[in-house]
Amino acid sequence: MSDTISLSRRFGSNSGQPVTRRDGIAKVTGSATFSADNHPDSLLYAVYATATIARGRVTRMDTAAAEAHPGIVLVMTPQNRPPLQGNPDDKPTFFSQRIEVLQDDTVRYAGQPVALVVGETLEAATEGARLLNPQYAMEKPRTGLDDAAAYTFEPAGFGTPANTVHGDVEAGHAAATASVDVSYTTSAMYHNAMETHAVVAKWNGDKLHLELPSQALTMTCHSMAYFFGIPPENVTLSSPYLGGGFGSKAFPIGPYVLAVLAARTLDRPVKLALSRNQMFGPVGHRGATRQRLRLGIDDQAALTVIDHSGLSETSTFDDFIEPAPNASQGLYKAGALRSTHSAVRLDIGTPGPMRAPGEASGSAALECAMDEMAEKAGIDPLEFRLLNYAEIEPGTGKPYSSKALRECYRQGAERFGWAGRPLQPRQMVDGDGMLTGWGMGTALFPCPMFMAEAEATLRPDGTALVETSAVDMGQGAWTSLAQIAADSLGLPLDKVEFRAGHSSLPDGGVAGGSGHTATAGSALHAAGSDVIRQLGELAAADPASPLHGSGNAGFVARDGLLMVEGDDSRSEPFADILARAGGVPLKGSGRGVRPPEAAEAHAMHSHGAVFAEVKVDSVLCQMRVTRMVGVFAAGRIINPRLTESQLLGGMIWGLSFALHEEARHDPRTGRIVNADLAGYHVPVNADVHGFEAITVHEDDPHVNALGIKGVGEIGTVGSVGAIANAIWHATGKRIRRFPIRIEDLL
Ligand code: MOS
Repeated sequence: MSDTISLSRRFGSNSGQPVTRRDGIAKVTGSATFSADNHPDSLLYAVYATATIARGRVTRMDTAAAEAHPGIVLVMTPQNRPPLQGNPDDKPTFFSQRIEVLQDDTVRYAGQPVALVVGETLEAATEGARLLNPQYAMEKPRTGLDDAAAYTFEPAGFGTPANTVHGDVEAGHAAATASVDVSYTTSAMYHNAMETHAVVAKWNGDKLHLELPSQALTMTCHSMAYFFGIPPENVTLSSPYLGGGFGSKAFPIGPYVLAVLAARTLDRPVKLALSRNQMFGPVGHRGATRQRLRLGIDDQAALTVIDHSGLSETSTFDDFIEPAPNASQGLYKAGALRSTHSAVRLDIGTPGPMRAPGEASGSAALECAMDEMAEKAGIDPLEFRLLNYAEIEPGTGKPYSSKALRECYRQGAERFGWAGRPLQPRQMVDGDGMLTGWGMGTALFPCPMFMAEAEATLRPDGTALVETSAVDMGQGAWTSLAQIAADSLGLPLDKVEFRAGHSSLPDGGVAGGSGHTATAGSALHAAGSDVIRQLGELAAADPASPLHGSGNAGFVARDGLLMVEGDDSRSEPFADILARAGGVPLKGSGRGVRPPEAAEAHAMHSHGAVFAEVKVDSVLCQMRVTRMVGVFAAGRIINPRLTESQLLGGMIWGLSFALHEEARHDPRTGRIVNADLAGYHVPVNADVHGFEAITVHEDDPHVNALGIKGVGEIGTVGSVGAIANAIWHATGKRIRRFPIRIEDLL
């Protein structure tokens, strides 16, 4: 790794370009091989039977009928499930959830696996699972937030956030000359990536190969190694394509472990792919919340307090909760801040991370409460936010590494045409008689870095190979990462071979937290820079090179040429330097990690401002989002095309959150009644009109050497509140339960 390679000079020929997805053609022509597309020889098919009650016990299953069915080779139940070497109740890595692998006959949620059936064909396995016809001793299920007592908890790792308090909250309340005290409810949302979860497991002695869509290859290998009692290096995992992840593919799930166990037991490869219906249970979901927001302002409309408490659902056997109240911690200046969490244990699958976990739900409530507070103050909602703009991070007092939020507000308001918006609701009616409303919200998302490694090899012919196990969930990460790698090596994109998505490559880290491009990109940049440093040392020491003796000057690499920094006349092609050095490849490596001191010194977030227009039919109360403008500041944008796509996707999820998505339980059985894409509503193209996502220029010298923040999750964050606030502005009704439905407006 080297600091002598100046980023600003060498960067930019590939980065910043709207390169199309490198795997786009393979995907749209169907030649991309997703995990479930693998058919190794002698493959068996696994299907699991799912519990149709949410709480109770399985009292009987007709295993004989299933076993007698032609083509069935294994019926695995809690009675005969072979042991696992690692305790299945353990969490082998930090990003883990307790898995359901037929530990006993207890049913803890509808959709839980209760048996695994393996057959020679998918049809046989499906029929075998149906023939089991489980009988239950059912208890009354608890699936609503009021169905069990709330509890408070101490933070104990992943998914159990700490309460935070900054300043004197009671004094903040007492100092308020006006206040709001409002509660919002958000619904459970279930992961519906286009590609459902799938695994093809193949053993070779005590070595395991997995075809499995994964946001975290190395950790998944470690977890599998733990459960099966083999060294981690015995597990390989191939994950070349994901049809969406959104947080649900970061962990091994119980059905995967059962399929791997079946493959070992039968000594044949086994495939298991979840049906769409089975996605509603074991893969995590965004848990329902009820949130209370108490805001106070003084007579200058300055916030004296933001007091945000949340109740979140979780399962009876694990702890992940949606940390919604945390969304109030870093955004607005206030005299005092408090975020507190409580939870309720229900007969549901354990919630998990879903795109902007916490921020999406929390900001939905916060941004609506801010709108209600602005209304009470008689101030324009944007003006109110500017009055309470945080110049340093509230609570911690840290300076921001960069914060171009003011510019987001300015450009967004201008682009949307916010000026002149009437303060009162029900003031705008369009030519068709539709009530029209405008609302806005602020977006904030942290920009974490995890850890990633990469290697780069410059070949004697002047081309390069770069390698990291980085993940592309479909958003185009590999394309952006290849652009970064090419720039770090001073090569055009087509001279760089990019290998990723396999666990045998250097650890590309986790695709999550909106930090993958920053983290794996930093590793690739470091690896490429390491190669160029070595190349410079070779040239400087070589009397035959025009760069001879320039060792202290530093080098610039561009278009396959190594140049002396500040003296373009002294340059030499990479291939010439390598040829004289014996024609062997030069290999470099690098790590992407943020030093703790850097993280300590600054508050690091992406920001944005979202403006929405809705039209509401005053008789039928149908709602349409007719325009949405999101303006985001997220550091250096590597690929504007893919960034726009990510941000639009996030904003559309905001629309989904505000108006569409909700998993509904039948209170009698505890089953989700709309566990398919017919009943579980998500927006379609016809729902998405006039969406624009724009990024503003933002240089950030602190987040990492590349100045990359992240764009994966922030698009959802301000969007929910913007839409709800626009609905109020159109109708005069504050709907505090998401999704907002037609009947709420009647
Ligand atoms: Mo995301 S919810 O960090 O995959």
